[in-house]
Amino acid sequence: MIEILFSAGPESWAEYEAPLREALDGHGLSYRLSCDAAPESVDYIVYAPSSGLRDFTPYTRLRAVLSLWAGVETITGNETLRVPLARMVDEEGLTTGMVEYVAGHVLRHHLGMDAYIVNPGHEWAPVVPPLAPERPVTVLGLGALGSACATALAGLGFPVTGWSRSPKDVAGVTCLHGEEGLEAALAHAQILVLLLPNTPATQNILNAETLARLPRGAAIVNPGRGPLIDDAALIAALDSGQVGHATLDVFRTEPLPAEHPFWAHPGVTVTPHIAAETRVSSAARVVAENIRRGEAGEPLLHLVDRDAGY
Ligand SMILES: NC(=O)c1ccc[n+]([C@@H]2O[C@H](COP(=O)([O-])OP(=O)(O)OC[C@H]3O[C@@H](n4cnc5c(N)ncnc54)[C@H](OP(=O)(O)O)[C@@H]3O)[C@@H](O)[C@H]2O)c1
Repeated sequence: MIEILFSAGPESWAEYEAPLREALDGHGLSYRLSCDAAPESVDYIVYAPSSGLRDFTPYTRLRAVLSLWAGVETITGNETLRVPLARMVDEEGLTTGMVEYVAGHVLRHHLGMDAYIVNPGHEWAPVVPPLAPERPVTVLGLGALGSACATALAGLGFPVTGWSRSPKDVAGVTCLHGEEGLEAALAHAQILVLLLPNTPATQNILNAETLARLPRGAAIVNPGRGPLIDDAALIAALDSGQVGHATLDVFRTEPLPAEHPFWAHPGVTVTPHIAAETRVSSAARVVAENIRRGEAGEPLLHLVDRDAGY
């Protein structure tokens, strides 16, 4: 009997219990799934940081932790966790949602839609935007989400450059990596999309120096993580016109505090961390597949590199 502890908060339990059972039953697994198993009996933990579980020491029999979240920065450094950690990669749900968010906000900036949506003086002021092939877009991060977004944007006709830590090959996308690659990736980015994880190496990657390397008036879309951006440097770049607009979905502190200057800045659009939500039924299938793999002695999917932090 496999003992599975669901540790992602009571609200999530109400949503996840039935789809998880259905997905586990689909694999013919013999299991017990609950929110309150005795720690020493647990084989797998289905996890979200919102559960508050931080000390994994009592889970002496634990085989793996399966995160319902794609971002794992709050757990990668946890020294009490000594078993494999898998993060959420959910192509049907999470990835589709992120592609839609990124495509929507890139097209908003590309087409200059704001001028017509907010037009209190009812001005007839036509500005014809360039076509997509004349609008270079850069995506920082070419993982599960970044590569899907880069591919979709390339499909719309944008010349897309992607940047990652290691060399990548994504069809239709100019792939760069490393320090030198970053310089080139920023140099032509009229629209810059951030889909990097939050690690010590990526924090403040957009700072006064890197913002200055963008073409003047560039738009930024950040559905990655708040700490990727130096907030004060971004405000200064917006004030000077170096950055034309920033659409931000993630922040150093969430909810974004009422007094934060992003709320009031005319050059910032705040969305409340809604770019891509884990979707229950597809995520349940991802978790169940990993438990099946664990039981069959097969390698788990979407394992986190604890040293790299993502
Ligand atoms: N706003 C939302 O609703 C929402 C939802 C889900 C996820 N997210 C965020 O999106 C992030 C990305 O998700 P994902 O599933 O695409 O992650 P992923 O598959 O782990 O991909 C991360 C990408 O970032 C690159 N990278 C990491 N560190 C780097 C560095 N120091 N320099 C250059 N590139 C670096 C990786 O390079 P390599 O390819 O070389 O490893 C990889 O291409 C998550 O970590 C999370 O923070 C946000």
